[in-house]
Amino acid sequence: MEHLINPRVQGIQISGIRQFFTMVANYPDAISLTIGQPDFMTPEHIKEAGKRAIEENKTIYTPNAGILALREAAAQFMQERYGLRYDPEHEIITTVGASQAIDITLRTILEEGSEVILPGPVYPGYEPIIKLCGAVPVYVDTRDTGFKMRADRIKEKISDRTRCIILPYPSNPTGCILDRQSVEEIAELVREKEIFIVSDEIYSELVYGESGEKHLSIASFSDLREKTIVINGLSKSHAMTGWRVGFTFAPRYLTQHMLKVHQYNVSCASSVSQYASLEALQNGALDAEPMRDAYRSRRDYVYERLVQMGMDIVKPEGAFYLFPSIQKYGLSSWEFAKRLLEQERVAVVPGDAFSHYGEGYVRLSYAYSMDVLEEGCNRLEKFITSL
Ligand SMILES: Cc1ncc(COP(=O)(O)O)c(C=O)c1O
Repeated sequence: MEHLINPRVQGIQISGIRQFFTMVANYPDAISLTIGQPDFMTPEHIKEAGKRAIEENKTIYTPNAGILALREAAAQFMQERYGLRYDPEHEIITTVGASQAIDITLRTILEEGSEVILPGPVYPGYEPIIKLCGAVPVYVDTRDTGFKMRADRIKEKISDRTRCIILPYPSNPTGCILDRQSVEEIAELVREKEIFIVSDEIYSELVYGESGEKHLSIASFSDLREKTIVINGLSKSHAMTGWRVGFTFAPRYLTQHMLKVHQYNVSCASSVSQYASLEALQNGALDAEPMRDAYRSRRDYVYERLVQMGMDIVKPEGAFYLFPSIQKYGLSSWEFAKRLLEQERVAVVPGDAFSHYGEGYVRLSYAYSMDVLEEGCNRLEKFITSL
């Protein structure tokens, strides 16, 4: 009966990252630099709030969009941190991680044949959902623009079928961010067009701008706000990946429709996680700071080591990934990662897991302790010298 499975689902591949993890599992002694989540634990005060919610029997359905106090706290956080204003009652939905926020957003705005412009290489969570909607991903090659989406490149891809542009910055897998000028140029390009912007800002708290720059959201331009859906969440900023809480921030006319998709999809995010998240946003606004400082030192260390090894790499300014080119070693990204694993017992993610524009690169995560990073770099250096 397998032939009766929805062909769009049949057409989706299991993520390249998962396939590689299956192989890594055969090498239990390997040093892994593959992880896509903080190595920090959820802060104690947040865990306590989760436990309290269980003890106080806050274990029933919440409103579909999430408890109002949480949406209010999220609105305040967005205003204080990024100057974005959203009405908690009508413009915010609490989702099951940023992943479900991506799902309900794309399913609300895409139709059969819609085109979605996104950068390549990119996080692999968008393309399958675009395809499930019968829509078409249209990649902008960012390999020669420091992995940044540029307005002139986007312009070349716009057609009368373009329904939305995805701006996923700070970026997984490249760690790159969008500077003010790039955001302004993209805003200028889209301003008069009937095109949505999906701005996935899940790493917004992890920006290491040398000049103390903070994350800039395209939704902070008031006329762009009306066509932008901002996606964010607590997974990365508060080391809460397993709690599964994210948000959509979008104008009312969009949110009212997204809420229907959300309602029939999950009813609401976990009540216990929502109360833990409320604590995170009300009393943990600064929780990300020590983590950010640690990530910054680790980034500096690993980046310097890779440069010393002679690897070609764009210095990342956000998230916790490095994305060096491996083209000069004459191996595919999969072969490079496989041989590094077999020879030196170090796991990195082959770049082609991030669309075919990632071929010729590997992703290293620095969400690990300095000891692990140092040993990982030593082994990587030995491997490269052997090539
Ligand atoms: C760019 C990007 N967006 C969304 C997600 C999903 O986040 P969540 O765990 O909150 O669903 C990830 C996870 O790695 C990501 O890297």
